[in-house]
Amino acid sequence: MLITTDRLLLRRFRASDAPVLAGYRSDPEVARYQSWDAPFPLLRAETAVANFMASDPDKPGWFQYAIERIADKALIGDVAVHLHENLMQAEIGFTLATAFQRQGYAFEAVHAVLDRLFRLQGLHKVAGECDARNLRSAGLLERLGFTREGRLRQQTFIKGEWTDDLIYGLLAGEWLKDE
Ligand SMILES: CC(C)(COP(=O)(O)OP(=O)(O)OC[C@H]1O[C@@H](n2cnc3c(N)ncnc32)[C@H](O)[C@@H]1OP(=O)(O)O)[C@@H](O)C(=O)NCCC(=O)NCCS
Repeated sequence: MLITTDRLLLRRFRASDAPVLAGYRSDPEVARYQSWDAPFPLLRAETAVANFMASDPDKPGWFQYAIERIADKALIGDVAVHLHENLMQAEIGFTLATAFQRQGYAFEAVHAVLDRLFRLQGLHKVAGECDARNLRSAGLLERLGFTREGRLRQQTFIKGEWTDDLIYGLLAGEWLKDE
């Protein structure tokens, strides 16, 4: 287990998670502002999970934390971290299956990952980026203490249209300020 919170375990993905990953990534509401299209077939999910399993949270590159609810061991979503080559910066992303949204689970999971990044891994800065229309994602980043640093106009061509992206940043000094 990588991280434990009051209600969640953040753990590595396992091969047996692929059907659940395919399930929530196939939800058009979940996929709406993401890089993949719904439906997300099982074969693609199996390949994705194999890649997640081969990665390491302390090495440069992407690592995907599976979010498991302790009460019933349900896989409810994931937190993705892209650690830079310098091991001092990262980008973060997050996805929750629709049935588990609006219960504070995303906040709890991302908060715990940020704590690991800043306290254990000693990062200097974490960035987050979202489609400007994705108010739930921007809201989560702001509740976590991220500062909106910019808006990239018509930055991404996604699902047939150009979209603006919001750029957020959080510094170690801000995360650790109450210590
Ligand atoms: C972005 C996303 C992760 C946000 O999830 P979320 O569940 O809204 O975020 P939180 O965990 O912070 O939950 C906040 C909500 O839970 C409610 N809540 C209920 N119990 C709570 C508790 N114990 N603690 C905190 N909040 C609680 C809050 O009141 C708030 O409700 P509201 O949205 O109606 O105001 C989610 O919308 C998602 O997965 N979207 C699809 C994928 C996506 O677009 N990802 C981002 C790509 S950039």
